[in-house]
Amino acid sequence: MNISDTEIAWSILQKAGYSRTHELPEADVVLLVTCSIREKAEQTIWNRLKHLTALKKRCQKHKPLLKIGVLGCMAERLKTKLLEQEKLVDVLAGPDAYRDLPRLLSLGYRGQRASNVLLSLEETYADVMPVHQTPEGHSAFVSIMRGCDNMCSYCIVPFTRGRERSRPLSSILEEVRMLSDQGVKEVTLLGQNVNSYRDFSEQHFICSEGSTQLSRGFKTVYRTKQGGLLFSDLLDKVSQIDPDMRIRFTSPHPKDFPDEVLQLIQERRNICKQIHLPAQSGSSRVLHAMRRGYTREAYLDLVENIREIIPGVNLSSDFITGFCGETEEDHQETLSLVREVGYNVGFLFAYSMRKKTHAYHRLQDDVPAPVKQRRLEELISVFREEAAKVNMALIGSTQLVLVEGESKRSSEELCGRNDGNVKVVFPKTDLPIQPEKPQMVPITSGDYVLVKVNYGQHDNKIELIWLCLLSLVVNPAAGF
Ligand SMILES: *[C@@H]1O[C@H](CO)[C@@H](O)[C@H](O)[C@H]1NC(C)=O
Ligand SMILES: *[C@@H]1O[C@H](CO)[C@@H](O)[C@H](O)[C@H]1NC(C)=O
Ligand code: SF4
Repeated sequence: MNISDTEIAWSILQKAGYSRTHELPEADVVLLVTCSIREKAEQTIWNRLKHLTALKKRCQKHKPLLKIGVLGCMAERLKTKLLEQEKLVDVLAGPDAYRDLPRLLSLGYRGQRASNVLLSLEETYADVMPVHQTPEGHSAFVSIMRGCDNMCSYCIVPFTRGRERSRPLSSILEEVRMLSDQGVKEVTLLGQNVNSYRDFSEQHFICSEGSTQLSRGFKTVYRTKQGGLLFSDLLDKVSQIDPDMRIRFTSPHPKDFPDEVLQLIQERRNICKQIHLPAQSGSSRVLHAMRRGYTREAYLDLVENIREIIPGVNLSSDFITGFCGETEEDHQETLSLVREVGYNVGFLFAYSMRKKTHAYHRLQDDVPAPVKQRRLEELISVFREEAAKVNMALIGSTQLVLVEGESKRSSEELCGRNDGNVKVVFPKTDLPIQPEKPQMVPITSGDYVLVKVNYGQHDNKIELIWLCLLSLVVNPAAGF
């Protein structure tokens, strides 16, 4: 999300005549894209701001106009505290105010501190074509919806990023087509609740029966919406644009996985068979306190249904340890859920109380920090064991890998990812364009290669897999 927001803000600034530098000493304006999801994310920004203001003081003489701006969730959450109380910042723009950046900056130049933290019911930046800037340009994020209406009791997102709204389908398709023309081979559809997508902007008659779209056993706290184009309609259209383009999406909510969506993922070769299914806890009691709208049993039924429809799918998840009222027994239920499901990737954190949330007002942050931490460590170790099993099962198999570029550890190696988003490392060599043909070409980023997995190695979150190369896949659509 931070990459996508940066690209949107950057596109707007570029149109207003700004150019970008990666060298801090060259910059006249420094903008920080921020996150408020945990205390620690904010602390990082405070430290960065202190560092920047020190720099600003030091170069007051030769650069009197240096401006510092804060964009995104922290701007929204802290609003004028950042401008007035701390006096560290010249410009503030909330997640829905990036269009206003050129004006805010121009006020900044006249010596005013300027802010816009209005949240919008409509802003999706649909007409802002982001300037994509992944290193090799073969992978891009496309924002399809913004905001969240779920109000999970621990979460600050509904307060910093506002109400849920979807970008019109036509503008998403236009952007994906453009990316395909530019040679992009992988698109990740982005949204806080990406599969809750619902485009009301055009009256379409092709829409699925938009009334009973929740996963079985799931509830929402807000009124179920009716009509409009759904995530399944979007996936259907996006995946047809370019059969060689991999489609991923994040971050989904488990409530919005009706069979239509699962069947599409199964049917379309270019939609990756990797689903993120944030559980947050394995205890129904804690899930209730979190207001997640499902029980452990409903979640496990969904997992079973997903595995039935998409055999061989890999699942990843998010968990919070030490939420308000979490007992040792609840914690054990989380560990057992992780063992039962067997995820390959996880984002695991100790609970961090955020102001404004339901939990802040109504619940007690009563699990002591060392206990949260100990439970987190236990969860991480169980998670690693399970992920190692899933990823080690790849040894001996042949995987279709989209090449990203040189590996971090050696310029003699390349790295890429398989369908399940597992990172793969292999030697840099030339390969025949077609098997049995003498003409050899070097492998470059954006190529698909078939690789046989020889062994795996433990990395922090994902297994690094060393491979032996089989061939370059010229027509991945046929080879998936
Ligand atoms: C986005 O966040 C990640 C994780 O903190 C960081 O590594 C990356 O540099 C950030 N990218 C941008 C463009 O802000
Ligand atoms: C994970 O995905 C791989 C392919 O990427 C597949 O072979 C494997 O069966 C999946 N694992 C599980 C546990 O489903
Ligand atoms: S679904 Fe829940 S956790 Fe996710 S952004 Fe919305 S309120 Fe936060």
